[in-house]
Amino acid sequence: MSRLLLSSLLLFVSSQTALSSGVFELKIDSFTSSRSVCRPESRVCQVFFRVCLKHSQDVINPEPPCTYGTALTDILDTDSNAISESAPIRVPFLFKWPGTFSLIIEAWNAESSGLESTENQNNLISRLATRRRLTVGEEWSQDVHFGNQSELRYSYHVVCNEFYHGEACSAYCRPRNDTFGHYTCDDRGGRRCLEGWSGEYCTFREYS
Ligand SMILES: *[C@@H]1O[C@H](CO)[C@@H](O)[C@H](O)[C@H]1NC(C)=O
Ligand SMILES: *[C@@H]1O[C@H](CO)[C@@H](O)[C@H](O)[C@H]1NC(C)=O
Repeated sequence: MSRLLLSSLLLFVSSQTALSSGVFELKIDSFTSSRSVCRPESRVCQVFFRVCLKHSQDVINPEPPCTYGTALTDILDTDSNAISESAPIRVPFLFKWPGTFSLIIEAWNAESSGLESTENQNNLISRLATRRRLTVGEEWSQDVHFGNQSELRYSYHVVCNEFYHGEACSAYCRPRNDTFGHYTCDDRGGRRCLEGWSGEYCTFREYS
């Protein structure tokens, strides 16, 4: 009896645990500004970007909270007014991917101390706020934003984490072959019983 309870509890836990269902990734491909992004007093120009994801809004309020998550790039050294290619910025999410969202990207001057602070509005170089529709997949979507004396090219995609499947990264399925189930997973997170097993969790031995 306790064994049965334990096994159903484990089934429950393993099917409900959602540590993180996916990640939105964004790469800065290039950024140029005719307004020098170097401040006169500093010899090295240092810029970082902030990405903010929110629920889809008709009029996007660029201020926090970033309801779907936020992330900063590292500080990127630039020559006088251009940077190229950042490592992907990762915004993990724990919910069903909604498909539409508001995207806010800001370029900031780093403090001379090397701090990534978004307090001082004088350090804000540019900001874009846009609504996007994006389906889950490895392929990168590319976009360009022409701002006030600046140009930002960026790419983004959203991918499910391991064991999460489907259009919203919400179908959890982890292949197993033990007491609690004998199955692999299909693209949509459905369980596919290994040969000789049946039932919802493929725990019943089929006799032929
Ligand atoms: C565009 O940038 C210039 C110079 O930085 C500034 O004076 C002007 O107010 C900006 N315009 C807008 C719409 O932000
Ligand atoms: C599942 O486990 C059984 C027993 O350990 C093993 O014989 C079988 O090859 C495994 N099947 C798969 C597909 O891993």
